[in-house]
Formats: sequence, structure tokens, C-alpha cells
Amino acid sequence: MSQVDDIKNQVDIVDLVSETVNLRRTGKNYIGFCPFHENTRTPSFVVFPDSGTWRCFGQCAEGGDVFSYVMKRDGCDFQTALELLAKKAGVELTPYNRDDKPKEEKQHLYDLMNEAVSYFHNNLTQHPAGKPALEFLTGKRGLKPQTIEKFRLGYALPSWDGLTQHLLGKGYTRQDLIDTGVVSEQRDDKGEVIPNGRIYDRFRNRVMIPINDSRGNPIAFGARILDPNDSPKFLNSPQTVLFDKGKTLFALNEARSAIREKDQVVLVEGYMDVIVLHQEGFANTVCPMGTALTDFQAKQLTRQTKHIVLALDGDAAGYHAAVKDIDIIREASASETPGDTKNLLRQENRLNVDIRIVTIPEGLDPDEVVLENHEAWEEIIQTAKPIVIHMMETLAKGRDLDDAKTKSEIAAKIMPLIREVPNAIERETYRQQLARFLDIDESLLTYTGQTVSPGSGNKRAFPAKPRLKTTSDAMVFDPKDSFYNKENEILRCLYRYYDNPGSLAAIDRKLRKFHLEAMSPMDFNQTDLHEIASVYFRALDQDEELDTKAFIEKNIPESVQDTFFALKNKRPDNLNETLELDEEILRSVAFMRQEKCEYDKSELQSLLEGSEPGSEDMRNFETMLDRTLQRRRQLDILIDNINMIDFRNGK
Ligand code: UTP
Ligand code: MN
Repeated sequence: MSQVDDIKNQVDIVDLVSETVNLRRTGKNYIGFCPFHENTRTPSFVVFPDSGTWRCFGQCAEGGDVFSYVMKRDGCDFQTALELLAKKAGVELTPYNRDDKPKEEKQHLYDLMNEAVSYFHNNLTQHPAGKPALEFLTGKRGLKPQTIEKFRLGYALPSWDGLTQHLLGKGYTRQDLIDTGVVSEQRDDKGEVIPNGRIYDRFRNRVMIPINDSRGNPIAFGARILDPNDSPKFLNSPQTVLFDKGKTLFALNEARSAIREKDQVVLVEGYMDVIVLHQEGFANTVCPMGTALTDFQAKQLTRQTKHIVLALDGDAAGYHAAVKDIDIIREASASETPGDTKNLLRQENRLNVDIRIVTIPEGLDPDEVVLENHEAWEEIIQTAKPIVIHMMETLAKGRDLDDAKTKSEIAAKIMPLIREVPNAIERETYRQQLARFLDIDESLLTYTGQTVSPGSGNKRAFPAKPRLKTTSDAMVFDPKDSFYNKENEILRCLYRYYDNPGSLAAIDRKLRKFHLEAMSPMDFNQTDLHEIASVYFRALDQDEELDTKAFIEKNIPESVQDTFFALKNKRPDNLNETLELDEEILRSVAFMRQEKCEYDKSELQSLLEGSEPGSEDMRNFETMLDRTLQRRRQLDILIDNINMIDFRNGK
């Protein structure tokens, strides 16, 4: 996956736009006033979370993805937008390297990590100095010797160079040690690394928990204190070429078969919980690296199961803070709903998964629960509730539900969440459940009225309107079908098969025959693909007399090198090479454009419903809708025509 993909996966476009634009939900999309043109009457700016794109249907009529949004907002180029969003996404931009890390080089670092794991493990199980650590694990923490073996747990001596000397003795270089993050480098008073300064063991007097990638290679350590006076409690390896914490789930490799078998994955907060739960037979358990679940991690899980249970323990780490300290988060994000819960709901929606939450009782940790009573854990998992219901019950905990003020406060907090639920039946069911829960009449629970927060002048809450049914609404959203992938596929075909201007001309001729515009970079709305497409079309047009591919290689901007690299090395997926290529590509382009029209059409229709009769905005939307419908008709005719050709040829 390219860095650009990574960033797209991590940055929520709704959150990004919300930083400067007040958005409200309409159906599954969001709408607000366009920040790019003077406009105060009708909101014409739409954000589509499914495809990660935005569009202004008003005067400026522009659109794109997170990158083009930042480029336009800040007036910067793609590289700058990339850097800004990378920071936001916590993605480290590595300079593009034509053949990535060569495999052998990575293997060399895995070997080093394996050596380090063995060294620490040996300290724990054989070294006299490891005794207190071993006693801590087998005693207080209830670990069996087999568990210590299975997870290859270890102990770092209270030494500054034990591991360093050991690894150097095995022939690893100073740079290898730095690259894997097992050592720290000496720094000056300003905190800058001193070049060629001393290096020393990063982990000292800690229990060492090896962290593996999803294939079981050791890539990092989680290191827990033994001495309660030390801090931090856990010290994790830094980001390295091997380890990216947002992409890693602890024990995923060990949990995979159990996750598949139970068709469910349980997420807990701590390494120790995972280890003990695996020991006690609940091997479908993993945990993130002390942070909230990223989209990348969620996607990794959805390849095994659609059923995710979040088991949150007593202390304030991770999600728990989000759910429990609702008011703190409200203040922090100054939005009208608990931000992180809203994100969680969006994540659930976007990834099409079923996320449920349980809380572990009375500040106990999962490991303590299961060690005390094996069945208790099973029972707790069975009480997992949908996000909205969980929030409802959490808010009500210890409160007097007969109190009118309490009821109204809970309703005011939960209704905005319910409004986020995209599925109408689910949404209405939650509304009914909330009414029953608070013992009030359902009609009192409207989607309006309680969400105005100070300082958000024109932010209004609207009832979630039933939307006109469109093809895209009718289908379950599949990320594989997003426009990004369609654009990517088409660009891959173009790059692979069309290296002279003449061969595209046949497609363009057909398009024009049906009053449609020729292919151009405008067919590619995703900024990275748009950048690549621009170079491609320039290549067809050049007079440098370079071969098309050579021209592209020479001119591709650094910022899209890795997207380009992935694109050029992957064969087109759906292309049936035995059919006429022209037709196949024409068909893909026509279908993609048709789908984009469909998106526009349904958005314009709801914009029209919401606009002031007779206003200029309304006339604007009407013109655009007409144009969209006209274009849609032309595309229909074209598509029918391609099918007819097929029919005649007996294909
Ligand atoms: P916990 O403090 O709940 O840890 O933090 P735990 O795993 O349950 O450990 P015990 O039971 O106290 O021994 C949960 C997770 O948050 C991250 C770690 O990933 C930890 O497993 N964390 C916590 C850190 O990264 N740094 C810290 O200082 C604390
Ligand atoms: Mn714990």
C-alpha cells in the first residue's frame, strides 16, 4: 500500500473539512457552505465519506479528495498537502526508494530482532538477574511457563549495553541496531542526535514483550516496568522500517485462526490482557499499540471477520476515555457530540463492520477477570452492545432516570449519535429504544433542536431525510468499488496498453460521437491519480520524442512515486484481454462516469429540496441537475451501444 493510500485511509475527510466548515449530515453524506466561494444562502458543498471526496455544486463546481481539499484551502502544491496530511495521519513519509527496502535487507533486520528476542528470553528464563521478573510473571500475573515460551517473553537487564554488546558480537552493525530501534542514540542538550555519538540499550530492567507483524516476524518490543517507580509504564519501540504502530495489532498472527473460527475478534487494551486471554483459551483476542483502533487495523481485521468487540477496561487508556469522559471530549473538540464515539460510528459505517462494546466491571482488567473466573469472561463478551446502546447505558450509569433533567440531558447527547447511523431501520430502532429506556414518548425524540452549540452560528440540525433511491444507495458499499479503485484500474490499463496517442484516439472518437468529452486528467478526481494522469496525457502530447513510458518515468513527481510504482507494477484486475481493449476501456470509463453522475444526481436532488424556492442557488442546482441528467442519458446511450456491438459480435 502506498503512503498516499495510507494517508487516505487514516484521515477522515469529514473531520478534516469540519475543522473549518460547519457540516451537517444528509443521508450518508455531509453538507455545508462552500469555503471556496462567497455563498451565504444555500449550502452547496457536499462531502462524501464513502468515497472520501468532496464537491461544490455551486458556483465553483470543483471537487476532489483530501489532498485537493488541502491544496485548495491552503493554496499549496500536492507535496505540501501530502506532508501536512501525513503528519495528521501519523504516517511517516519515507523518501521514495525505487526498489523499496530490498527483501534481504529486511530479512537481516528480522534476524537481528529474533536474536534480540532470544537474548531477552534467555535473560528471563536462565539468568539469575531475571528471577524477579520471572516471579512477577508466573506469580502475580498468573502466566504459565508454556505461555512465556509461546510469546517468547523476556527480560532486559538493568544494563546500558548488554544487548548492544551481544548484537555487535554477533556481527550486527551500529546502524542495524539503530534501524531496529533496540538502542537509543546519544543526544545533545537541545535533544538533537549527536552524529556518531554513543548508543545504548533502549530497554533496561523491563519485562520484554516481542511484537510480531501479521506473519509472525518480530518487529518491535513492548517493554513493561518491573519497578513501580520507573516510568513510563510501557516503553514501546519507536517507528522503524519494520514497525508502524498504526498498522500493527499485537498477537494478530497468533489469533488469526481463532478469529476465523469464532467469526469474531475481541479487542482489549493491554498486551498482558491478550497474553492471559490466549492462555485461558480466548485466542481470538488482539490489542492495538496503546492507541485507538486505526482504519488500517480495522481493515486488517475485517479480512478475518466482520464482528469486532471492543472490551474496554477500567483505566483511562484508549477508547475508554472517549466513552467515559464524554464531557471532557465535548469540550476538547467543541463539537456537539462526543467526537470519538462519532468517529467510531463512522468507522463502523465506512468499513461495513459490526462493532460492539463491553465494559469490564469495577475497574478490573480482562486478565484479572479471566484468571479469577474463566466463565466470567465468556459472559462479559456476550453482553457486548452496539455503540449507541452502549453510550446510552454508560451515560445513565448511576443516574436517576426519573429525573426530568437527566432524561433530557441523555436524549440531547444520544440523539446526535443516532442521527449518525446511516441505516434507516437501525436508526429508528435506536430511537425507539432510547424512548423506552428513558420512558418518554417517542415523538419527543426528534433529530432537531438540541444540537446547537455556542459559536456555531449557522449550524442547524436537520431530520435525516429519506433519500431518493439511487443505484449507489441500493448497493452495500464496498471499498473495492470506490471511485479510487475504478480510476486506478483505468489508469493502469492506459499505462499498460496505450503508449501512443493514436491508440487512445479510437476511444475518444466514440466518446465524442455520443457527445461526451474525450478522456483527460479530469476523469481522475483522486489527487494522486490526477497527478499521474496529467503526466500520462502530457506524455502523449510531448515533442521531446521520448517513448511514452520513458517520459512518464522521467516526469512523475516525487510525491506520487510510490502510487505510480504500485500502479505500474500491478496488472489490471478486471481486464479481459481477449476482448477488444478499446471497448473494455471505453466501457469502464462509461460506467465510472455514469456512477459519478448518479452520485451527483442524488446529491443535487437533495440540495434542491433544501434550497429556498426561487433563489439563485436553486436555479443553479436546477441547471446543474439538468446537465447531469443530460450527460447521464448520453452515457446510457453509449453503454447500450457498446452492448449492442457485443451482441452483434456474439461476445
Ligand atoms: P495498561 O496500563 O492497561 O496496561 O495499558 P496492561 O497491558 O493492562 O498492563 P498491566 O496489566 O498494568 O501490567 C494498556 C496499553 O496501553 C499501552 C500499552 O500498549 C498497554 O498494553 N501503554 C500503556 C503504553 O504504550 N504506554 C504506557 O505508559 C502505558
Ligand atoms: Mn492490565
